[in-house]
Amino acid sequence: MKFYVTTPIYYVNDVPHIGHAYTTISADIIARFKRMCGYKVFFLTGTDEHGKKIEKAAQEKGVTPKELADTTHQRFKELWKRLNISYDKFIRTTDQEHQEAVKYFWLKIKKNIYKSKYKGWYCIPCETFVPSSQIGEQETCPTCGRKLEFLEEESYFLSTSEHKENLRRYIKEHDVIKPDFRRNEILNAIDDLQDISISRPSSRVSWGVRVPDDESQTIYVWFDALINYISAIGYPKPMEFWPADIHIVGKDILKFHSIIWPIMLMSAGLELPKKIFAHGWWKVKGQKMSKSLKNVVDPFELSKVFKEDTVRFFLFREIPFGNDGDFSDELILKRYENDLAKDIGNLFLRVSKFSETNFPDGVRKSGNLNFAEINLSNILDDWIKSMSELDFYSALNLMFQVVSYANRYMDIKAPWKSLKIGNREEAQKIIYDLCYLIKVILYMLYPFCPSTSTEVSEKFGIKIEKSKSEEDLKKDILVGYEIFKVSSTGVLFPKIEG
Ligand code: ME8
Ligand code: MG
Repeated sequence: MKFYVTTPIYYVNDVPHIGHAYTTISADIIARFKRMCGYKVFFLTGTDEHGKKIEKAAQEKGVTPKELADTTHQRFKELWKRLNISYDKFIRTTDQEHQEAVKYFWLKIKKNIYKSKYKGWYCIPCETFVPSSQIGEQETCPTCGRKLEFLEEESYFLSTSEHKENLRRYIKEHDVIKPDFRRNEILNAIDDLQDISISRPSSRVSWGVRVPDDESQTIYVWFDALINYISAIGYPKPMEFWPADIHIVGKDILKFHSIIWPIMLMSAGLELPKKIFAHGWWKVKGQKMSKSLKNVVDPFELSKVFKEDTVRFFLFREIPFGNDGDFSDELILKRYENDLAKDIGNLFLRVSKFSETNFPDGVRKSGNLNFAEINLSNILDDWIKSMSELDFYSALNLMFQVVSYANRYMDIKAPWKSLKIGNREEAQKIIYDLCYLIKVILYMLYPFCPSTSTEVSEKFGIKIEKSKSEEDLKKDILVGYEIFKVSSTGVLFPKIEG
């Protein structure tokens, strides 16, 4: 059982922001979940370092493109460390092996490539050739709204006609594009697809991989970048992890991944990715994040105020993965106070403290686990299904069903009352039940908040272990220990001042 998940490789023209963190955290969540289910996981992320956009940014900063990339890619690595991202490889498109793979790939599909002239529009911020049919009178980019350049230059093209029909069929039959509501847009775009320009004159774009046997042309940055998904796992050598199980991308770059990339792969006789998931867009107070508006959410700043687990949790608790979202400090604070501090943190604290104080030797299993009002087995079935489909929003809702149930259980069963009347056995049974529920919660929390889950597990004497399959994971979650020996978790989510 293997599982290969990727994020986009991010441009190094600027430092990472919350949008980049969002995608990478989502990949980390699914990677951690799949590891729990026993898969051999390969989780790839990295940086996109070639092309005009980077060349220009470097020029403006008065450094070389390589210098810019060397500094900025470090910021991404630091952020992934800060956010507890468990990637297996960080690829840079300036890596020697990657560049070799790009050239190899080009030669491999050479029979589908021809030289001609590109006459039309280009968006540097998006690194995209924009068909004139999509441009209004303003001559701005339909995706980012910024000013376009008009190009008239020599270019190599990749012919697409041979593969269009197969691609359509593949997307439909294998249900490749997720969420479903994005599929039609892609199918329509395939209908309109022309041959793809895949190089630019080196005189205009010098920062990139040269076309093999034609120094006068530099390979188009997207052609170069997409190949990272295979170069990172060994291409052109045999690849254990190909095809990818899922490429996670933002909706802005879904077309590159679901049209250009598959056409490239089909041209090279390689298998297509199994799923491509396009998530939505984070805005701030309804506005696009931008430097000029000074509203860019800096994940470093955010993680100074909140623990990384809070950031990870908030982004997937707040909106269904796939939809657009609106970020604000008030919203994250509210989630922190209500969901994390009050519902979760408080549950862990009061159960652990009660247990430590009254049952220092631990609470033992006695009799049946009997939770009349909740069907944990069904909840876990649904949870595993939601997690597998990247429906993290539903997965967290399911976890909160167990959390609220456990809180009510504590309130209603009131183990302190049993103690008061001298019924230690009853009190022990109640706390055992609560520890059991908390075990379920800690497993469900783990992919989202791995450090909190791990820290609390240790306090409860719980070990979150790898299972052998989804089925096994469910069984392992539902296994009751003979004894839970608990020490207080302390306050996990303290009040934030200011
Ligand atoms: O497009 N909300 O890189 P990029 C949600 N190098 N996600 C966001 C976001 C936001 N406001 N802003 C960015 C590129 N993202 C290419 C990719 S892949 C072979 C090459 C996330 O630095 C989202 O995942 O512009 C989006 O697709 C990605 O960052 C774009 O990153
Ligand atoms: Mg972008």
